[in-house]
This record gives sequence, C-alpha cells and structure tokens, in this order.
Amino acid sequence: MRDEGKVARIGLSEVTTAELAEARRIVDIASVQNRYNLTDREHEPVLAACEAADIAFLPWRAVAWGKAGDRAEVAAVAAELDATPTQVCLTWLLAHSPVMLPIPGTSSVAHLEENTAAGDIVLAPELRARLDGIAASV
Ligand SMILES: NC(=O)c1ccc[n+]([C@@H]2O[C@H](COP(=O)([O-])OP(=O)(O)OC[C@H]3O[C@@H](n4cnc5c(N)ncnc54)[C@H](OP(=O)(O)O)[C@@H]3O)[C@@H](O)[C@H]2O)c1
Repeated sequence: MRDEGKVARIGLSEVTTAELAEARRIVDIASVQNRYNLTDREHEPVLAACEAADIAFLPWRAVAWGKAGDRAEVAAVAAELDATPTQVCLTWLLAHSPVMLPIPGTSSVAHLEENTAAGDIVLAPELRARLDGIAASV
C-alpha cells in the first residue's frame, strides 16, 4: 500500500523489540505507540530501540489517567514545581527521550490547557533523577 501511494508512513502499536526489529527488516517504521508513563515503564526497551533508530515513540496512557499524584513521590515533586502531578508526568516524559511524543487524551479544556502548559516546565536534573528513581522502583 505504501508503494501504491495509499500510505505515507507506517507506525506500529503495542510491539516488542523483536516485533519492531522484524517489521524494520520489511519496511521503514516511522513511529511506535506503546503504553508507557512515569509509573509504567514496561516498554523501556522498546523506547531505547526507537531512540537508536530515530523512530518517534508515542506513549499512550501518558498521564496515567491523571492519577500519578496517588504516588506520594510524584505529588512531592509536583508541589516543589508548583505544578500538578499530571504535568510532572508529561514534563518527565518530554525530558526522558528526544523521540518521545506524548498523546494525552482529555475531554476537558481545563485539562488540555494544563497538559499543554507542561511543555514549558523546566525539570532540574535533581528532580529528574528523583523521578527516574520512582519509575525504577515500580
Ligand atoms: N495504541 C494503542 O493501543 C492505544 C490504546 C489506548 C489509547 N490509545 C490512544 O492514546 C490516546 C490517549 O488515550 P488514553 O486511553 O491513553 O488516555 P490517557 O491519555 O492515558 O488518559 C485519559 C484520561 O486521563 C484524564 N486526564 C487527562 N489529562 C488530565 C489532567 N490534566 N488531570 C487529570 N486527569 C486527566 C482524562 O480525563 P478527562 O477527560 O477528564 O481530562 C482521561 O480520563 C488516544 O489518542 C487513544 O486513541 C492508543
């Protein structure tokens, strides 16, 4: 279909590193969409493979249903940044990898504004390291 001009770029969803490698032997892959967020890093190896191949990684459930603040460590970092836990989730994702492209879903304009404002938050190295540690302990 790509050769016929019906498809411009090809993306994959919910793949393992092996499946990504197999697909790349057949065709160029532009993006991967796997479940991933600050407290759910099962697909870290897939993210690493995307980084190595310069493939966009689109985490779904990027804001963990807006419940990241249930983790005391995330709530504490949010308080220090004068931000919301959901903003911390998004800021951490953006800082975590150059190929990261979060796609948070929302039905609320207030949440949309909150989520887009996360792109302006600067995460100091010390806070980023603390958040990295939270994920590693999950
Ligand atoms: N590839 C796949 O297998 C796959 C699977 C599932 C979803 N997706 C895609 O991923 C995208 C996101 O969907 P998702 O299911 O992963 O949802 P999500 O973005 O993880 O979560 C959406 C939920 O988070 C809440 N939320 C968003 N911003 C918030 C905020 N600032 N504070 C508190 N709560 C907040 C929303 O509630 P409100 O509406 O109240 O804001 C909604 O209940 C969609 O485009 C979807 O199609 C892909």
